[in-house]
Amino acid sequence: MQRVLVVDDEEVVRDVLTEMVKTAGDFEAASAVDGDDGLRKVREEGYDIIFTDLKMPGLNGLQLMEQIHEIDPTIPVVVVTAHSHIDTALSAMREGASDFITKPFNLKDIRYVLDRVSREREILKTIPEDGDKSRVVKTLNSALFRKLDEINSLLTLNLEIDEMPDTETLMERLPTMMERLMRARRVLVLMIREDGYLVSRSNGAADGRMVLPFSGSVFESLRSDRDYLILDVDEPSPLDGKPLKAQMLILPVMVGGTEVLGYLVITDKVESYHFSEEEVKLARTLLRKVSMRLENNALYEVTYNNLINTLKSLVLTIEARDAYTKKHSERVTRIALQIADEMNCTQEEKDAIRFGGYLHDIGKIGVKDMILLKPARLTDSEFEEIKKHPVIGYNIVSPLGSFPLEKLLIRHHHERFDGSGYPDGIAGEEIPLIARILAVADTYDSMTSTRPYRKGLSHDVAIEEIKRCAGSQFDPEVAGAFLQTPAGKGEKEDEH
Ligand SMILES: [Fe+2]
Repeated sequence: MQRVLVVDDEEVVRDVLTEMVKTAGDFEAASAVDGDDGLRKVREEGYDIIFTDLKMPGLNGLQLMEQIHEIDPTIPVVVVTAHSHIDTALSAMREGASDFITKPFNLKDIRYVLDRVSREREILKTIPEDGDKSRVVKTLNSALFRKLDEINSLLTLNLEIDEMPDTETLMERLPTMMERLMRARRVLVLMIREDGYLVSRSNGAADGRMVLPFSGSVFESLRSDRDYLILDVDEPSPLDGKPLKAQMLILPVMVGGTEVLGYLVITDKVESYHFSEEEVKLARTLLRKVSMRLENNALYEVTYNNLINTLKSLVLTIEARDAYTKKHSERVTRIALQIADEMNCTQEEKDAIRFGGYLHDIGKIGVKDMILLKPARLTDSEFEEIKKHPVIGYNIVSPLGSFPLEKLLIRHHHERFDGSGYPDGIAGEEIPLIARILAVADTYDSMTSTRPYRKGLSHDVAIEEIKRCAGSQFDPEVAGAFLQTPAGKGEKEDEH
């Protein structure tokens, strides 16, 4: 019977894992409370397999592994890690760990890892001290190299996933990533639609767009146990009912550890008809990473939306104070977006306009009512007060951190192309493009709105004014683009 030592400073983890190891098969399991305790026990009691946490007080997991391998380099060390630290686990394998398992634990994974490492351990133990270890070591090394190769592609994919800007892109590229990782010719993402059907995402793929019933399908059976499924050669394909020519691996795409969003279907492997246990594990590891990313994205989107809503209500507060600028921010944003479309701005710039446009006058919250609501032209000193609002707005949004473009938009929406604007007096291309765009939209809307002390100008007069100021107040290119937009052509805006 092989003896397993579980080293973890968290009592719960230690107990759960020890129990699972005992359940997993013919193993004896003991535990150690930290790295130093673990090392002492390995020295004094002798163990065949070690599971260790990485972060522990005193000797950490990697140091423990190093010490153990000095005693006996054939003792397999399996790293225990959280889902969110797969990268760490992979680099631990580069340092010599045999494998890794992730929390929350899964009996299937543990059994699989134990089988594999104990098999290797048995092989190494049977070789006499002076025997020909080189052949065995060679075999194990080639397995290790294959493993390292997989780890490398996983690491690369990990980085790729980290750099993907949003959920949409991630789901778009998932099939290609899986094809590469699994060396499969056909990978399909099926999403569960609200009406209970499964829909393939791969538009324009050879399969076309696929719609499959979900209820009663093999997919539904997977939803409850949230694992994976391998369909064998000659079994009917859940995609078209025809007998399968190669094995098909189906994995659920999950978010939040419980909710199944859809499924990944992998088939037609390049080199064989079958999936090895290793490959299944690899696919699941990548999918776990994808799930984490989806979860983070969802969290981010919720936080982002909350933030936007808070700020929007702030804007409403300002607009409520000033009946005449009511809906001004909304109209300005709409016009600015039309210009951005006309100028083929990037998605990032459009997003910044959508959010920042709405907030561009948020700094007016810091301007006294007496001035902001004055039903007449402002004196010079009053105007100086009003001129502070871009910087006040910039300061309100700045602590939020992650809105660099929006911040610039708010700060610079009153700069003029010739450098005579405020607050910084920058000119030309120094002014961020989105701020130059907003300036045109803002001015047009202000001119055509009726104020207590003056009636709004007609569309035609306002347009003439924009043309006249192109090159001085406005970027001529932006002014020109504005004339081509529906708003610039005086088309009636549709209120959504
Ligand atoms: Fe403003």
